[in-house]
Amino acid sequence: MRVFDSITDFMNKRQSLDGPLGFVPTMGALHDGHESLVKRSLRENKNTVVSIYVNPTQFDSNEDLEAYPETLLKDSEKLEFLGVDALLLPKLTQMYPDSFRYEITEKDFSYEMCGAYRSGHFVGVLTVVMKLLNIVRPNRAYFGEKDYQQYSLIKDMVEAFFLDVEIIPCPIVRDPDGLALSSRNLNLSSCQRIKAPLIYELISSKSSDDEVRLKLTKEGFDVEYVQTKFGRRFIAAKIGTDPSIRLIDNVELMT
Ligand code: PAJ
Repeated sequence: MRVFDSITDFMNKRQSLDGPLGFVPTMGALHDGHESLVKRSLRENKNTVVSIYVNPTQFDSNEDLEAYPETLLKDSEKLEFLGVDALLLPKLTQMYPDSFRYEITEKDFSYEMCGAYRSGHFVGVLTVVMKLLNIVRPNRAYFGEKDYQQYSLIKDMVEAFFLDVEIIPCPIVRDPDGLALSSRNLNLSSCQRIKAPLIYELISSKSSDDEVRLKLTKEGFDVEYVQTKFGRRFIAAKIGTDPSIRLIDNVELMT
């Protein structure tokens, strides 16, 4: 596995990665959810590039950014073992040579659901993904349905800007008790970890959106939204205080 910690270096060597080229952008702290995207890319492409970049512009607060787990050595060993061809590790400042002057804004869906609670989050996500897609120039890029709103906004952005890349959605990977895998799960206390699967249990149940909200609130969750859209039920809820941990999930509704 070739490791690039310079964007310029990567772009100079990009031609040596013949296609089809698959790309999995991540923020690291890799778990089996990320791994499922990487494995799929390895199966479907000649070469696979993974990026690890904890993008500061998509965090709503400094505490959240600082609390984000970093496990770089373990991550790169995992990717090497899986057979990834190139790992891109841009330095914090390299990604924004424009000093944050340019950004991608979506004016509709990005204000709903997570966007209603995390001001500027999707501007940060779309801008960095646009940059990463332009750097890597993959044929296919893989995104998890765990962050379904993110996937949907990226897919629409690619269409809107005529980018020549296929955006591939990948199913949510869960722990055996149903909790969707997330890098943030590492920050849950053992008590919170026991409670957390209730989110999945309730959004998969026959209860209405309002009933799910009520039941979770009774259990001590701070529920941001429970919403049904695109034949799916979406949720964001916080658990604990100082700091609270924000969990999101969604399930496809059976018709
Ligand atoms: P990150 O949270 O590291 O996630 C990287 C990719 O893994 C995303 O596409 C996400 O949806 C997917 N993923 C995470 N947990 C998953 C799970 N349990 N099952 C399936 N897929 C899962 O999402 C980001 O990083 C960033 O916003 C990024 C796109 C890299 C831009 O900075």
